Amino acid sequence: MAILVTGGAGFIGSHTCVELLNAGEEIVVMDNFYNSNAKALDGIKEITGKNFKFYEADMLDMAAVDEIFAENDIEAVIHFAGYKCVPESVKKPLMYYSNNLRGTFNILECMKKYGCTKFVFSSSATVYGIPETVPVKEDFPLSAINPYGSTKLIIENLCREMAAASDKWSMILLRYFNPVGAHESGKIGEDPNGIPNNLMPIVLDKATGKREVLSVAGNDYPTPDGTCVRDYIHVVDLAKGHVAAIKKARSSNGALAYNLGTGNGYSVLEILDTFQRVNNIDLGYTIGERRPGDAAATYADPTLAEKELGWKAEKTLEEMCRDAWNFRKLREEENK
Ligand code: UD1
Repeated sequence: MAILVTGGAGFIGSHTCVELLNAGEEIVVMDNFYNSNAKALDGIKEITGKNFKFYEADMLDMAAVDEIFAENDIEAVIHFAGYKCVPESVKKPLMYYSNNLRGTFNILECMKKYGCTKFVFSSSATVYGIPETVPVKEDFPLSAINPYGSTKLIIENLCREMAAASDKWSMILLRYFNPVGAHESGKIGEDPNGIPNNLMPIVLDKATGKREVLSVAGNDYPTPDGTCVRDYIHVVDLAKGHVAAIKKARSSNGALAYNLGTGNGYSVLEILDTFQRVNNIDLGYTIGERRPGDAAATYADPTLAEKELGWKAEKTLEEMCRDAWNFRKLREEENK
């Protein structure tokens, strides 16, 4: 029996593969390398010393997805594959709906056909929209404020409705806060194609000189230092949350949602200052305009995940900044 990991070569997917293998699970990985790299697969093997079956396949290709289920005994699916760039989703909503929804339908249809009923979904704290209060709890109202968020919310709703219609399903909806960092070996990390729009990849580009400007998006928010506050979580902690979610999927049914965050809010300035200090780098950032659509502060109440999944984030902000830079430095040297 194996766990199928869609998008397993991606940032969170690759770290999750490592933690699953370390926990003794058998995995089958699929990815189309749209926003990932085959090097991640070598990294997973090097870190764990274990091998796994890989399919270079697109989830929109139903025949390819079906083949994976036909050739393997898939017990559960962890579904990461999907487009994830918020500004791009605003410009290309149809592309986002079409890929993220149709792909997920194909996965779920195959699960149904082959009697696989355990599904762990890579959701996002974006499903809370702009929360009225913090920390954010799982029972807060849900809303979408961009097409990317809409796709996450629609899939969550579908999971809830499927679980309500049949008690065979076990759906675990994991709402990630802000994943950063990399495996401490430096063998896997965040390696997106194209120009990044999230804070840490932008910081890394500035630190390597690949990018000229690093601008803090507003310092007049109602927060202690005026910059936005987020719940940054080390990707290895996040990955371990998926191992806990698989265990939960095996012992429960219905649709259950969990925040995966640390419960700590850090401001943009705290991130930049910590990055500079632990890595001994002067980022040379500037203060700029607010970014449209940003909430002043959002961070998780992670107590439900601790109580029901037995999982808790453990790594510090220093480790997030150190490991992210360590990966990037090694990757830059390799690419020289
Ligand atoms: C963003 C998405 C969110 C998605 C998440 C996935 C938006 C509005 N939200 O969250 O839906 O689930 O990524 O990882 O895009 N910042 C700067 N300067 C920069 C870039 C960012 O100061 O050049 C600030 C932002 O204002 C924000 C913080 O850094 O306060 C984090 O930004 P980002 O990494 O994009 O994450 P979120 O906005 O929290």
